[in-house]
Amino acid sequence: MLKRWSAAVLGGVLLLGALTACGGENSNDAGNGGGAKGDGKITMGFAQVGAESGWRTANTKSIQDAAAAAGIELKFSDAQQKQENQIKAIRSYIAQKVDVIAFSPVVESGWDTVLKEAKDAKIPVILTDRAVDSKDTTLYKSFLGSDFVVEGKKAGEWLVKEYEGKTDQVNIVELQGTTGSAPANDRKSGFADAIKGSPNLKIIASQTGDFTRAKGKEVMEAFLKANPKIDVLYAHNDDMALGAIEAIEAAGKKPGTDIKIISVDAVKDGMTALSQNKINFIVECSPLLGPQLMDLAKKVVKGESVQQRILTEETTFTPEQAKAALPDRKY
Ligand code: AHR
Repeated sequence: MLKRWSAAVLGGVLLLGALTACGGENSNDAGNGGGAKGDGKITMGFAQVGAESGWRTANTKSIQDAAAAAGIELKFSDAQQKQENQIKAIRSYIAQKVDVIAFSPVVESGWDTVLKEAKDAKIPVILTDRAVDSKDTTLYKSFLGSDFVVEGKKAGEWLVKEYEGKTDQVNIVELQGTTGSAPANDRKSGFADAIKGSPNLKIIASQTGDFTRAKGKEVMEAFLKANPKIDVLYAHNDDMALGAIEAIEAAGKKPGTDIKIISVDAVKDGMTALSQNKINFIVECSPLLGPQLMDLAKKVVKGESVQQRILTEETTFTPEQAKAALPDRKY
């Protein structure tokens, strides 16, 4: 009797187990399953841009820490700023059947094929930090990150105010981010838009510094050689501004005074230079996307609907504000 009762209980448990497994698999078939390995643990494949800047280092740390805190297994790759490396990493995550793929695209174009491969494999994709220009927005579940056009606008608006009422020509040089990347495209257009009503504000040279300190320095040296009168530098990130500061000082000029400097990011080194009046204004771009990304990942893996666009909240800093914020700055 006891034997028959035990057999019945065991049968029930097995059936329940089989049904639960089916439920999991069905969810996966819809591209929304959780823990494809059946252990309930989510595996995320993350294809990072590289390690080009202080911002990127903070972003990588935020993602790694948040994955560990959320109990998500993270497979991480560094593309060294090359799109082909990111595509290879995404294909390898598809082959490994991860539960969710997240990435910050080096450049905006050229993602449709690999995103379609992920979709066909029913692996949801989340974009973080940077956008793609794919027309088919069903190729990814959500895009979490800043509005780079707004960042460029804030930089331009500060400059317009700074020269309000003045009519003399103001010569601006621009250090652009990585060519073809969303932040370079958008920060350029947002800035241009903000200054277009002030004909005396003139961009006299604009070149990529690839978001790195070394390139920022090199390009600024060339700008200084070619242009005897530079009034303003607009750098698309702090690292390039910091490299440019070295070039400006080496040329015997005072950064922040002889040449006004505006940049984007607000990482610790940039904020320190701002607090020393070597930079005049910084537009914040937050790299701390990890916790929100992990929440999103859990939702998309469960098949819950998520917002297609999630904007990061950001501010701006003057030298005084940088001094006040620096002691608590996390990155
Ligand atoms: O995509 C964000 C940008 O990439 C940051 O502003 C820059 O520092 C980084 O390399």
